[in-house]
Amino acid sequence: MSRLWEGRQTGASDDVLLELGASIDLDIELYREDLAGSRAHAKMLGHVGILPEQDLKAILDGLTAIEKEIESGKFELKIELEDIHTHVENRLTQLIGPAAGRLHTARSRNDQIAVDTHLYVRRLAREIGEEISRLCDALIVKAEAEIDQVIPGYTHLQVAQPVKVSHHLLAHFWGFLRDRERFAQTYKTANRLPLGSGALAGVNYNTDREFLRKELNFAEIYENSMDAVATRDHIQDFLYASTSFAVRASRFAEEIVLWNSVEFGFIKISDGLTTGSSIMPQKKNPDAAELVRGRAGRNTGNLVNLLMTLKGLPFAYNRDLQEDRTPLLDTAKNTHLIARTLTALVKGIEFQKHRLTASLERGFATATDLADALVTKKDIPFREAHHIAGKLVGLCAAQDLTLTQATKEMRRSVSSHLEDDTFYFESISTVNSTDRKISQGGTARSRQIEQVEKARAALVDRLPWSQK
Ligand code: ARG
Repeated sequence: MSRLWEGRQTGASDDVLLELGASIDLDIELYREDLAGSRAHAKMLGHVGILPEQDLKAILDGLTAIEKEIESGKFELKIELEDIHTHVENRLTQLIGPAAGRLHTARSRNDQIAVDTHLYVRRLAREIGEEISRLCDALIVKAEAEIDQVIPGYTHLQVAQPVKVSHHLLAHFWGFLRDRERFAQTYKTANRLPLGSGALAGVNYNTDREFLRKELNFAEIYENSMDAVATRDHIQDFLYASTSFAVRASRFAEEIVLWNSVEFGFIKISDGLTTGSSIMPQKKNPDAAELVRGRAGRNTGNLVNLLMTLKGLPFAYNRDLQEDRTPLLDTAKNTHLIARTLTALVKGIEFQKHRLTASLERGFATATDLADALVTKKDIPFREAHHIAGKLVGLCAAQDLTLTQATKEMRRSVSSHLEDDTFYFESISTVNSTDRKISQGGTARSRQIEQVEKARAALVDRLPWSQK
């Protein structure tokens, strides 16, 4: 077939340009959106009288036939046909003859690829937003089930203070909910019609963009045709939302890896989400969590990839813009996988009570509570109370004992205030410690119940894709 711009230039493209310029291997992913854009455009041309009735019908039938060919794997991809737009137009010409040539009236591939990616990103933002909702739901269910289980809370990866498992899981929940907000924003950014902008300046026909907007169900129309073909804000927002989500998922995945190690032993992961080793018979590796961590790196690279493409690009369309597809499609795939894997992990982990208790004890997790009890019940200044608790911890550590195992003599040797058994054991109980954290957002049982309720309510907030 001759090149689209045959007329100005003659002869075939250099092989190297064909190879460099072909994007069909990636664009084919956008075939539904490309066909939807073409259908809407054809109908609009018919509506304003540019396209005769019988040509419109032939074009629409041809597009349906092409869709079926692509879906049944019969559609042939050729590097000489560069991109999805050219493939569709070429096949349409084979199917319906010269009438196919009327479809590109008042349209450019620049506004065509823009509308394709807007539709695609809008769909992805909704799909991934919904997957994050499922992840958030799984976190709430698990949090509720573990509302009475205490786990060490860490700073510097050193045992700091006891918290409820629900508290830790919900800490991730709220972050993921903010990521869902980022996808909601992405949806809004992508929900604007670029088609009808032509190459950059608008078109020499009195087209009806409002008709197109309605046909493709966009909320708005780009006010400026140059903006419409030059911007990649929708992809940029999508890549940032996906990177934020992936990096957060990676932090959680890293905790799952740690918790699953022999050293922590806090969780068991269901067999379907772990692998064995080809040589070491004892191994049960947390591959699912490791791969979530790995994909976060890819998403981050993809965001930087697009930003580097955009930086320094003069207005309006430049061919560099087709490089947006590599990061877009790779991140789309990664982000779907990350969301689904993490949801499965949340459902597939089981907390190991005895190991959690052992770490709380060995980490002297309630030393702060002991100091606070000396302040509130024995009227000792905090500085001195901190010193007393610290001294007892030091003594225990030297003998490899926990606060629970400290003898009465040891306690008395540090301070007479520590002699009273009831006072002492109530102060160092990990459950008591958590339930005393009654400040709003704290780890006390009452606050956890309240937080679960708030989380449930926030999860059913209205989202842009569910609005009419
Ligand atoms: N394949 C191109 C892309 O993906 C379509 C637009 C081509 N426009 C052009 N002026 N060569 O961006």
